[in-house]
Amino acid sequence: MPDTRHSAAVSPTALYTGAVWAKHRLSHPAFATIEGRLLYAAGAPAMMLSRRFGGPTLDGLLLARHEVIDEQLHAAIKAGTVSQIIEIAAGLSPRGWRYARRYGDRIRYVEADLPAMAARKRALLARVGCAETANHRVADIDAFALTGPASLDGIAASLDPERGTAIITEGLINYFPLDAVNGLWRRMATTLQRFPNGLYLSDLHIAGENRNLAVQAFVRLLSGFVRGRVHLHFGAAAEAESALTSAGFATATLISPADCADRLRACRDPAARLVRVIRASTAARV
Ligand SMILES: C[S@@+](CC[C@H](N)C(=O)[O-])C[C@H]1O[C@@H](n2cnc3c(N)ncnc32)[C@H](O)[C@@H]1O
Repeated sequence: MPDTRHSAAVSPTALYTGAVWAKHRLSHPAFATIEGRLLYAAGAPAMMLSRRFGGPTLDGLLLARHEVIDEQLHAAIKAGTVSQIIEIAAGLSPRGWRYARRYGDRIRYVEADLPAMAARKRALLARVGCAETANHRVADIDAFALTGPASLDGIAASLDPERGTAIITEGLINYFPLDAVNGLWRRMATTLQRFPNGLYLSDLHIAGENRNLAVQAFVRLLSGFVRGRVHLHFGAAAEAESALTSAGFATATLISPADCADRLRACRDPAARLVRVIRASTAARV
């Protein structure tokens, strides 16, 4: 199990992404904290320079991954294969808030994060008048806990076993070493197999697609910021797909956001080539 101090060190990145979602009007302005706005302002000159020379931007990368995950999740909800969602490491992402507003009691959405971040999210949701209900709530979780109410299994046990269920991780996997990720994927597949349909959506960075010098400098900067290594576990997308099927998923595809550029505007940024979106599913229960 990864060091919990490292998990806590990852949390400030959620303040940064919280500011990004609000800046691009995907979120309520209240989700952009003062710390998040300051972090965003600190990185803005470098992003402006990169954009000016046709390079990738962090906003572009985050928006591309976010929109592809959204596209997949909306499609599963509309197809009726998913109506329960557990978002692990939800941070200050607006997704739970947006989906709860859009789909109401047709879905059940659990936003889960480490206790301190979960408390912050609860307070922010209360501030924007979004009361917790049985269909939209915030839960404490440690993604790497094996048992107990704050484990994935503990949260899944509170859901309806007869409804298709999705698990989302966004901005989590590359902060942890391969053995921890493989263990998490195995637990996710086992958990999702208990539901009639199981879908896993996540972003993932692949080493072979992040080799250029600017990206490596950024990875080093981010590693320093989170006081731990950023892990690029797989050399190629096929290796990650095979790890997911070995973990127990029936199918696994790594979508390139760059391939979605015809329909998703955010995926036109050069950064859309630097990230993948995992779409993995468990076999339909018979
Ligand atoms: C980069 S942020 C991503 C937040 C959000 N998903 C987004 O895209 O805006 C990483 C998040 O992972 C959470 N996190 C770190 N370690 C965790 C763990 N062991 N279990 C659950 N969440 C964790 C942090 O608290 C933080 O909210």
